[in-house]
Amino acid sequence: MAHLNMRNEFDLDPNVIYLNGGSHSIVPRSVLEAVTRYQREFELNPTRGLFGAWSELWKVQVKLANFFSARPEDLFLRANVTEAMNSLILGMPLPKHSEILSTNLEYGAVANIARFKAATDGLSYRIIELPRTAKAYAQLSDTALVEQIVSQLSDKTSMLVISHVMTGTGLKIPLPQLAKETRKRGVLLAVDGAHAPGSIPLRFSDLEDVDLYGGNLHKWVMAAKGTGFGWVAPRLQSSIKPIFAGWTTFDTREPFNAFDRGGEFQAKMLFSSSRDFSPFYALTDIIQFWERWTEAKIFKRIYHLQAHLESLMDQKVGWACVSPPIAQRGPLLTYEVPKHLKPEGYGLMIRLLKQFSLQIAMSPVVDLPCLRLSPHIWNSEADLERAVEILSSL
Ligand SMILES: Cc1ncc(COP(=O)(O)O)c(C=O)c1O
Repeated sequence: MAHLNMRNEFDLDPNVIYLNGGSHSIVPRSVLEAVTRYQREFELNPTRGLFGAWSELWKVQVKLANFFSARPEDLFLRANVTEAMNSLILGMPLPKHSEILSTNLEYGAVANIARFKAATDGLSYRIIELPRTAKAYAQLSDTALVEQIVSQLSDKTSMLVISHVMTGTGLKIPLPQLAKETRKRGVLLAVDGAHAPGSIPLRFSDLEDVDLYGGNLHKWVMAAKGTGFGWVAPRLQSSIKPIFAGWTTFDTREPFNAFDRGGEFQAKMLFSSSRDFSPFYALTDIIQFWERWTEAKIFKRIYHLQAHLESLMDQKVGWACVSPPIAQRGPLLTYEVPKHLKPEGYGLMIRLLKQFSLQIAMSPVVDLPCLRLSPHIWNSEADLERAVEILSSL
């Protein structure tokens, strides 16, 4: 029962069933301790800490790149995927009079970045439709899904902003196939990878037709809070403009040149001001955690828990599942809230925690009120059984 030891890696609140790895993961104890240790070391001499930060950050970036089969010089660090998507979308010059597309299933904040880019640059903004019912997904192959997306591009489209794994339904987008089509048409593909790192295999060596990618590390990877990254295809690195300026905007100097192994792109994307670096330093420790447990075992456990939960929900609760079938789905399992509970809205999430100590997410799919369950490796089968018992009593 190797997975029971995985659960022992976390300091869990024994009173709470935490089924919302999709919003925020629980960080393993070893990583939390590492963050504190890095903070303490820094405070022994903050000046030395600050000046030494850039060479440490570069070492972390090299490890992170290796974790995702990327080149370190194609990445940049950010505190979360929202910041990364701001850098990618707002920083990319787009042709005059062109249009930016996003989809009806995007996370609202990221769709707003696309809309804001269009508004500030005088471009048009359009939302394309993706299927949103489990029934529609059941009849949809990856090829048909890509065709459906591509058929909604127009001659004016210059950028498509789309999630790798949809926040509401958990739909996985077949990125290599989609990217091949968008690249052929000269449309930049900007991917919101909030839910992909740490939940599905992510290898940048397989994604050469993708243009721009932002990822979160404080969701499924279980890294310390305040960690994310951006990735830019080498062919676009000279075109992207930084959305903030600082020490390394025009040239690099001591101590930032300790970071500047990737050249001009790295320099212009680098955050060169003072901050708490410890969540980034602790990426080393979460990568060690993944090496110790292995990606194969962690993924197996996540999807085993998901399948078990789905079958319990089917047998004992019977709510309508809006997530696609397992092959087309990431780590999120979403159900339409039944009619008699709909008037409660977000209040249902608060009540479940207050009354039953069950933490779930309310995650509407377009205008459909939904409840999202996202177990991760700290969960046990008993957690799932108890959660299903609670939901069936509502
Ligand atoms: C698809 C998607 N994009 C972006 C985000 C934003 O993540 P963060 O607040 O860490 O930037 C989320 C958060 O749930 C998300 O689900």
